[in-house]
Amino acid sequence: MKTSFWLISFIAFEAFKITYFFSINCLFEIRSYSYGRGYIYSCLTTDIPESTGSYVTEVTGEHLEGRNNYFVRFVEIDGNKTLSLFPRNFSHFFPNLAGFYVTNTLIKTLYGDELNEYGKRLEFFSFGYSSLKEVSSNLFGQTPNVEVVSFYNNKISHVGKNLFKPLNVSQMWHLQFYLNNCEGGLANYDEIPDLITIILNNCGYDDEFLITTTTTPTTTTMRTTTERLYCLSYDRKLRKVVKKYRTNN
Ligand SMILES: *[C@@H]1O[C@H](CO)[C@@H](O)[C@H](O)[C@H]1NC(C)=O
Ligand SMILES: *[C@@H]1O[C@H](CO)[C@@H](O)[C@H](O)[C@H]1NC(C)=O
Ligand SMILES: *[C@@H]1O[C@H](CO)[C@@H](O)[C@H](O)[C@H]1NC(C)=O
Repeated sequence: MKTSFWLISFIAFEAFKITYFFSINCLFEIRSYSYGRGYIYSCLTTDIPESTGSYVTEVTGEHLEGRNNYFVRFVEIDGNKTLSLFPRNFSHFFPNLAGFYVTNTLIKTLYGDELNEYGKRLEFFSFGYSSLKEVSSNLFGQTPNVEVVSFYNNKISHVGKNLFKPLNVSQMWHLQFYLNNCEGGLANYDEIPDLITIILNNCGYDDEFLITTTTTPTTTTMRTTTERLYCLSYDRKLRKVVKKYRTNN
């Protein structure tokens, strides 16, 4: 009797323990990302505490002159091979956040609601050099304007079969799936639908029972049309990385 009481309290305690709150320190910098659009004001962070994750409740760091949190469009996270949960609540600090560049984490699963808070502003999602095994169909459910997706160098063997459905594929310009358990590759512009077919054939799975999202974000898209858009891709014939400019201007 007594044993089971303790067992139950232990389980209850464990269940409540999974939410963490923490403070991050940003190095604010203007950065250029290989698949990004020119120079972007970013928060770079490497100090997310070991094995925690969940909710960021404080952001510290010194902004470049004349800038503040409203200017931050990218968060770059180096998980230091310790981060095991995708951090949330960045939208509270950076209301104009349009992209993530995440590397070196121990995160194994993206459950699907991690990006909801960024809504229509999110354009870029890069999650590489990690141990990701599966991605739920819901991941981009609330972020239909994502144009660049990279899962370079993970261990992905399952993606929800509706993962790409919320995205406007004709608006996307880069999809990167190299170095995962299911064969993928890299595609730009009009090659993207074919790559999506390949990815879904190789590792698509039915996870519809996980779909729970109902709310629609009311945020506006921040987009500058004057920047010259480009991406880098590996040209097999030239055997080098080439810069490809977007053709619609
Ligand atoms: C990164 O991880 C190493 C151990 O793997 C640790 O010693 C170091 O403090 C960590 N760095 C940060 C910024 O957390
Ligand atoms: C996000 O951070 C703010 C500021 O610290 C905090 O008030 C809020 O509760 C956090 N949100 C969540 C869901 O933890
Ligand atoms: C998808 O993107 C294309 C190109 O930007 C645009 O013309 C089209 O209206 C978009 N479709 C939807 C459903 O938003």
